[in-house]
Amino acid sequence: MKTIKLNNGVEMPQLGYGVYQVDPAEAERCVSDALSVGYRMVDTAQAYGNEEGVGAAVKKSGILRNEVFLVSKVWISNYGYEKAKASIEESLRKLQTEYIDLMLLHQPFCDYYGAYRALEEACHEGKLRAIGVSNFQPNQFIDLASNVEVVPAVNQVETHVFCQQQKANAYMMECGTRIMSWGPLAEGRNGLFSNPVLTEIGKEHGVSAAAVALRYLTLRDVIIIPKSTHKERMIENFNIYDFTLTDAEMEQILALDLKKSQFFDHLDPETVKMFMGWR
Ligand SMILES: NC(=O)c1ccc[n+]([C@@H]2O[C@H](COP(=O)([O-])OP(=O)(O)OC[C@H]3O[C@@H](n4cnc5c(N)ncnc54)[C@H](OP(=O)(O)O)[C@@H]3O)[C@@H](O)[C@H]2O)c1
Repeated sequence: MKTIKLNNGVEMPQLGYGVYQVDPAEAERCVSDALSVGYRMVDTAQAYGNEEGVGAAVKKSGILRNEVFLVSKVWISNYGYEKAKASIEESLRKLQTEYIDLMLLHQPFCDYYGAYRALEEACHEGKLRAIGVSNFQPNQFIDLASNVEVVPAVNQVETHVFCQQQKANAYMMECGTRIMSWGPLAEGRNGLFSNPVLTEIGKEHGVSAAAVALRYLTLRDVIIIPKSTHKERMIENFNIYDFTLTDAEMEQILALDLKKSQFFDHLDPETVKMFMGWR
């Protein structure tokens, strides 16, 4: 498994398994399947309501704790220093672990400076091995990264062939912060699974459009966490290192970039109102 070295020296697998929209009742089975396929990184969040299932699957797998890289995220209703600090303890309990490998702030809203201080403190105490953010747009990212002691190790943002985040990545790399893609398959939006360019390239390598889309991101050094509740798709998404793409194919996929979200714009006031409603 290819690993990525973060800006604090911690190494993490480049490919992991995401559990957004995995029913809490299904989470243990899904993560057990993913671990049996070979995944050694799992991305969950307080807001997904399935940290317990993730923790139970890891515990029951018998795999050594230090061989699985656990990622979770603090939700905005737990922001502010005190609440974030308590919520980290809650995540540790639910995940049945002494430490979380990477903890992120889920959204750039509410008192994220206070919450980030709690992450820094837990990092110093060894409860978190690395910390970072998610959904921070370049302006918000630069502001935060310039005013904290521990520079974020990653920024988990929507990244896929239709929204490649080239500009945002350039700003993050100035801080050594890595892009971690959410929605690496764009959840199939904009016809990703039947996109003609991806499908044709896939035929050359005997793989699906989905596999090509994921492999492209890994060749751009992006960390990815595709989600599937189906074991055969988990396998398909895991085996992407068995082939590579030519320079010409990389160019063709680069040209698919629409440079805009397929979900929502985090800077749109209506998006902010929507998130405030989820508190
Ligand atoms: N930080 C954030 O704000 C944020 C936001 C969204 C997601 N995330 C993280 O990123 C992870 C991945 O993003 P995502 O779950 O939104 O979307 P995704 O991984 O881009 O796409 C998942 C969808 O694609 C389907 N799928 C997966 N592999 C496939 C394949 N090989 N062929 C055909 N269909 C396939 C899945 O269906 P089935 O499950 O039915 O197979 C599911 O509907 C999440 O699970 C979560 O951990 C974070």
